[in-house]
Formats: sequence, C-alpha cells, structure tokens
Amino acid sequence: MEPLRSLILAAADNDVIRRVVATAPGSRQIVARFVAGESVADALEVVHTITADGRRATLDYLGEYTSDPELAERTVRTYLRLLDELAERRLAESVEVSVKLSALTVDGDEVLASRNLGLICEAAADCGTTVTVDMEDHTTTDATLRAVRKARRTWPWVGAVVQSYLRRTESDVATLAYEGSRVRLCKGAYAEPAEVAFTDAHAVDLSYVRCANSLLAGGAYAMFATHDPRLVNVLRQRTRWYGRRQGSYEYQMLYGIRPDEQRRLAAEGETVRVYVPFGEHWYGYLMRRLAERPANLALFLRALVSR
Ligand code: FDA
Repeated sequence: MEPLRSLILAAADNDVIRRVVATAPGSRQIVARFVAGESVADALEVVHTITADGRRATLDYLGEYTSDPELAERTVRTYLRLLDELAERRLAESVEVSVKLSALTVDGDEVLASRNLGLICEAAADCGTTVTVDMEDHTTTDATLRAVRKARRTWPWVGAVVQSYLRRTESDVATLAYEGSRVRLCKGAYAEPAEVAFTDAHAVDLSYVRCANSLLAGGAYAMFATHDPRLVNVLRQRTRWYGRRQGSYEYQMLYGIRPDEQRRLAAEGETVRVYVPFGEHWYGYLMRRLAERPANLALFLRALVSR
C-alpha cells in the first residue's frame, strides 16, 4: 500500500488527530461534500434531490466499532426512525439502508449484532425496502458473512458486500453468486496486510473483474460499487456479454463523488444507487475517502486552516 494512503488510514484510528480535525474551523465545509449532514432530516433532504433525477440511494447512519451499549442502541433506533420516514414519504421503493454490524453491537458481540440486524430487517420488510450489510476490515469478514447468511434465512434480499482486494473474495463470491442474491462488489477501503490482501492496484482491479464475471454468470443481483471509469467500461461490456438486461444489476457510487457520471449512467437507463452517509460520527468515513484520493487531502488541509 502506498505510504500516504497508509498514513491517512492510520490517522483514522488516532484520537488526537480525530479531535483536531473535528474542531478545525474549515472541516465542516469538506465534510459536507461527502456527508449528507448530521440528522435524519438532513439525509432525507439529500435523498429527495437524488431520487428526483431518477437515481436511487442507500442511507448509512455513520458509526463504527463501539463498546458503548447506549451508542449501539441509538444507532438501531435511528435506523428504525429512518425506515418509518422512508415509508411515510413513499421513498422505500428507491431508497434502502446500509448498516455496519460493528456499530449495531457492543465489542463485536455476534449474537447482539444479529438480533439488532434482525430488528432493522423486520422494519425494512414492513416498509418495503432492503438492507445491505457493509463489509469492514478483514478480521470481521467471517462474522459479517455469517450474520448475512443467518438474516437471509428470513429476509433473502439482505445484501452482502465483498471486497476485491481480499485474496479470499473470489471464493466467497463463488458461494454468494446465485440467483436473487444481492451482492455489492467494491475494491475495499481498509488498511490490510499483504498476507490477506492484494497490494498492487492492478491485481485488485483484475480480482474485481473476475468477481464481477462470477456474479453475472451465477445470476446474482450484482451491485457494482466503483467510481473507476475503466472498470465501469469493462462492466458495461460484461453485463451485455452475459445477456443481462438493465435493472438486473446496478451501479453504486458514493455521495459527492462523480455525480455527473452517476447522472449519465442513469440517463442511459442503468440503475444507479448513491451511498449517502449521515450522522455525527463522520471522521472514519471521511479519512477513508481522503486516503482514496490524495488530491482531496490537499483540498482538506486547505479547508482546515481557512475560516
Ligand atoms: P479507485 O479508488 O481506484 O478510484 C478510481 C477513480 O474514481 C479515481 O481515479 C477517481 O477518478 C475516482 N475517485 C475514487 N475515489 C474518489 C474520491 N474519494 N474522491 C474523488 N474521486 C474519487 N468499502 C469497504 O471496504 N466496505 C464497504 O462496505 C464499502 N461500501 C461501498 C459502497 C459504495 C456504494 C461505494 C461506491 C464504495 C464502497 N466502499 C466500501 C469503498 C470502496 O471499497 C473503495 O474504497 C472506493 O469505492 C474507491 O474505490 P474505486 O472503486 O472508486 O476506485
């Protein structure tokens, strides 16, 4: 992994840097580019704009690993409120939710994670939408896939996420690539050791294409999460090659990244879903976006010192 990317990802876990960034005068301005706001109302406002031009959305209430039961409970309550609002505003057809298991539980307790995921899935089913379970660092992959498999026994539409940078992912995809299985394919956003992850960007891209082929061949509902123009071109060819009609797979991009490309794909009849994060705990999410693109880091550092 490039040294700058490793450095930024290390800063994502550093409390002192977290405090400096969170209180710096210009940080809000750059946060607003990637995060919809802090409240449910902020998130719904952004989602209205996105759906107005034919794109879809998946809403993520920001939060990661916690040891605080109150915080985990608050996260679950926020999702339940959000789902009520989606139903009330008749947005459930075009807006789903994404969750991180580590934010729904306490110290990684798998039983509590599954119970809370179940509460969110039940509410999503009532309101007529779906849930996708984000993938976190490689130490959590097995537990996350276990929770998805368990939830799918009741709610077969629960979305799994796989990361093409992990060496194991091709074999995970082989078991997830069946008809009706909703699978988001992304490159992966965490600092991972070479024993478990490809470190060369080209190897990550090749793995992405192999996994995409497997999902398309197996009949899964593939959710291609990438902003990479080369990969999007390859995917457009592969979906045709496998005889997939538009709507039997989708493209996903993050809020604030390549919005023109999102609209262009949607205008061509592709299903495009925007991942919209919101909430007060934006720091880890923001650092991962900065690590992906050093040009954003320069923008961020300038914003930090300006008033
Ligand atoms: P890559 O990073 O190689 O970028 C390719 C091109 O895209 C760049 O050259 C640039 O043009 C543009 N671009 C990319 N990032 C940009 C940025 N921050 N600002 C501006 N332009 C940018 N990861 C994970 O580990 N678990 C998960 O659950 C998810 N979930 C998820 C959902 C969705 C909808 C998306 C789009 C992504 C994720 N990710 C994720 C993140 C993912 O793993 C990956 O880190 C990012 O998508 C960046 O990788 P790209 O495929 O975009 O390519």
